[in-house]
Amino acid sequence: MGIVISPSILNSDVSDIRGELEKIQNADFAHVDVMDNHFVPNLTWGLPVVERIVQRGILPVDAHLMIADPDRWAPGYAEAGCASVTFHAEAASAPIRLAREIRKLGARAALALKPATDIAAYEDLLPEFDMILVMTVEPGFGGQSFLDSMLPKVRRTREAIERAGLDIWVQVDGGVSQETIERAAEAGANNFVAGSAVFKAEDAAGEVDRLRELAIGSAH
Ligand code: DX5
Ligand code: ZN
Repeated sequence: MGIVISPSILNSDVSDIRGELEKIQNADFAHVDVMDNHFVPNLTWGLPVVERIVQRGILPVDAHLMIADPDRWAPGYAEAGCASVTFHAEAASAPIRLAREIRKLGARAALALKPATDIAAYEDLLPEFDMILVMTVEPGFGGQSFLDSMLPKVRRTREAIERAGLDIWVQVDGGVSQETIERAAEAGANNFVAGSAVFKAEDAAGEVDRLRELAIGSAH
């Protein structure tokens, strides 16, 4: 399974998103966090801004929707051209219907799990998804510490995918850095979101390369 690096622009210089994205053209996706101050206690941006980022065409957009009522809002992000649309299990009322709608609109469909949400209840739904996001912090803010207590869930998720014979990415998001990425890769993650680690680094592209090398070295 290929290693995918998706820097989060949440803690970048958002007054110059274009300039920030141009720094990380060696990444695979731009991870764009949508927060509604309702599902999470923080507010970022919505569809018009994300659509503009997509139109810039610098990197494919991986939209992480930390919003209430994704059943209503998520398809718009697929329509806008996001390459991947992630909604939260805790927020969706009809996750199967929603995943199918996102895929039909041409995007990868992904399911996100907050730290207290287990994968067990979603195992039978795996074929509906292209990626499972195991949150490694409580969603809402960048710059938090990686929760090592999420590693067993990463492992269980990868095992369930392998048992089902599926080709699904496992993404980790929150506190991913040179210190933590190897543990996450070793547990079975192949897609890594890193916000502060990349955008606080002097050389953002160099940091992306370094994270990729470390993940490749620990992947199974
Ligand atoms: C947190 C967001 C993350 C965040 C990660 O709720 O989903 O994508 O930007 O930032 P770091 O890498 O700083 O933890
Ligand atoms: Zn995110």
